[in-house]
Amino acid sequence: MQSYYNNKTIWITGASSGIGKALSLKLSKLGARLILSSRKKYALEEVKKACHNPSQIVIVPLDLANYKELKTITDALVQSGEKIDILINNGGISQRSLVKDTVLEVDEKLIQVNYLGTVALTKALLPHMIQRNEGHIITVTSTAGKVGVPVRSSYCGAKHALHGFFESLRAELHKTNIDITMICPGFIKTDISKNALTSDGSAQNTMDDAQANGMTTEDFCTIALKAIAKKKPEVLIGSFKSTKMPVWVWRFLPNVFRKIIAKSKVT
Ligand SMILES: NC(=O)c1ccc[n+]([C@@H]2O[C@H](COP(=O)([O-])OP(=O)(O)OC[C@H]3O[C@@H](n4cnc5c(N)ncnc54)[C@H](OP(=O)(O)O)[C@@H]3O)[C@@H](O)[C@H]2O)c1
Repeated sequence: MQSYYNNKTIWITGASSGIGKALSLKLSKLGARLILSSRKKYALEEVKKACHNPSQIVIVPLDLANYKELKTITDALVQSGEKIDILINNGGISQRSLVKDTVLEVDEKLIQVNYLGTVALTKALLPHMIQRNEGHIITVTSTAGKVGVPVRSSYCGAKHALHGFFESLRAELHKTNIDITMICPGFIKTDISKNALTSDGSAQNTMDDAQANGMTTEDFCTIALKAIAKKKPEVLIGSFKSTKMPVWVWRFLPNVFRKIIAKSKVT
């Protein structure tokens, strides 16, 4: 596995916390040269300091919601001499609110950050990968990108849309050496539920039990990095109950899934 990452330049979004931070720490130990992105520069600096090879790490603050600026940022990075081998689209924000209560600005934000930001960054980097005829684009979606769950309507919408986008892109790239891997986490122990948007756009600020009892980011990284190195098209990571069970029941017994999810209290 180490040989896949050694000396590769890897751009990770959402690197300031949770899954992205854990991936950064682990990848730096595996010999990767990292470009770390998210909004909070100070938090990225802390991650950089904690990495194995801080002197080789570049910090590029960006806001995925400002998706129209991502091409300029990417072009500047490439013009500075960076040859990005792997892009990990991980930055994102979740939701905890009923459709009937949610202001439209929240739906807009969830689509901008989770879908348009990821699409814009991928499209900005793609020509450079195509020119070199190599690259690997990894996108972290969610079980909520495979099934619909309550209080996450636009989060589900954005994450489902990413699967549609990247399956189309995968087909378009089939004659190239550019690979696509979709990672669908179940419940992972991070601050995602604290940072999730509520109906008025404010953060929930509390940790859900499901996240508190979720898989550790270390275990998540071990599975994710093996799957990426094997260039798996898609991988579900988390407990059986939060990944394979809902996805398989939805695929093979959709009416059963609809009954179960309607009665469940998913938090
Ligand atoms: N944890 C889970 O149970 C779980 C389950 C399914 C899917 N996921 C997915 O996993 C990914 C990582 O989430 P996490 O669990 O590690 O949560 P997290 O700890 O809240 O981390 C989210 C990351 O995204 C960045 N981010 C948020 N809004 C951004 C924006 N507008 N522009 C740029 N970066 C932004 C945050 O950095 P800044 O605040 O510095 O911008 C942070 O680094 C997300 O895509 C999430 O949907 C997580």
